[in-house]
Amino acid sequence: MTTHPSSVHPGQAALVRELAKGGLLSAEWREIWEQTPRHRFIPNPAWRQLRRSCELVTGPERMDLIYSDEPVVTQLDNGDNGDNGEGGGPGIATSSNSMPSMVARQLRALDVRPGHRVLEIGTATGYVSALLCRRVGEENVFSVEIDGVLAAQARANLAAEGLHPTTAVADGELGLPAHAPYDRILSTCALRRVPPSLAGQLAPGGRAGHPDDRCLLRGRHSPPGPPGERRSGGPVLPRRLVHAHALPPAGDAGPAGHHHGAAPGD
Ligand SMILES: C[S@@+](CC[C@H](N)C(=O)[O-])C[C@H]1O[C@@H](n2cnc3c(N)ncnc32)[C@H](O)[C@@H]1O
Repeated sequence: MTTHPSSVHPGQAALVRELAKGGLLSAEWREIWEQTPRHRFIPNPAWRQLRRSCELVTGPERMDLIYSDEPVVTQLDNGDNGDNGEGGGPGIATSSNSMPSMVARQLRALDVRPGHRVLEIGTATGYVSALLCRRVGEENVFSVEIDGVLAAQARANLAAEGLHPTTAVADGELGLPAHAPYDRILSTCALRRVPPSLAGQLAPGGRAGHPDDRCLLRGRHSPPGPPGERRSGGPVLPRRLVHAHALPPAGDAGPAGHHHGAAPGD
């Protein structure tokens, strides 16, 4: 894979530099992030997540938001955005493109490698799917999204990049049994619970995780993981898989937007 620095969007390049400086990107991931400009996946309108509400972001500020280490809210009130982005609903974030450092941290924690079969729960914009396609090969990426409109947009975003992973409109709590087992399962949304069926879709030695960097599940007969990682001979079932599109600062309850049984920080 060759990178052409001149073709990297300057905002993307700066964001990636920051992630790399923070130790969140290996050389391989860095190249992939540089090749995958975030702005191509963000629809218009888009919003900034404030503590208790969302703020429509337009003009030059929009690109500033996209190339910051912040989540970008991409849907309010399950799609009742209104034509001008100021719909009649309560203005609750129901989909977003997650905070880049959180995504990088999650991918690092899951140790996603070329050839791994990966299930992503929460396709949203398709951005993480694109990163995954470039790491493991599009034939190994499976992504489920509960909202059919978002899933269609994600497919279009991905196709525009020449990427065609398997996508499905489904409830991620059920996983995607037709294509199991998976070496990695990545939840980017709130699941009320981790049903045994999802744990059962993890390959031996596989891992599943959520955005705060902890490994939640290990497939049976897992090889030992890196120091500090939770280990088990069998799956470790947490009470729930927690999704956050941004990691809350220490001691903070996190942003206010929630979706489909979201958890703090969603
Ligand atoms: C923070 S976004 C994911 C960000 C995404 N990975 C990206 O690259 O832009 C969470 C997404 O999960 C979806 N979602 C919520 N609950 C779900 C469920 N039970 N199954 C599948 N998708 C779900 C939401 O509709 C939302 O689009």
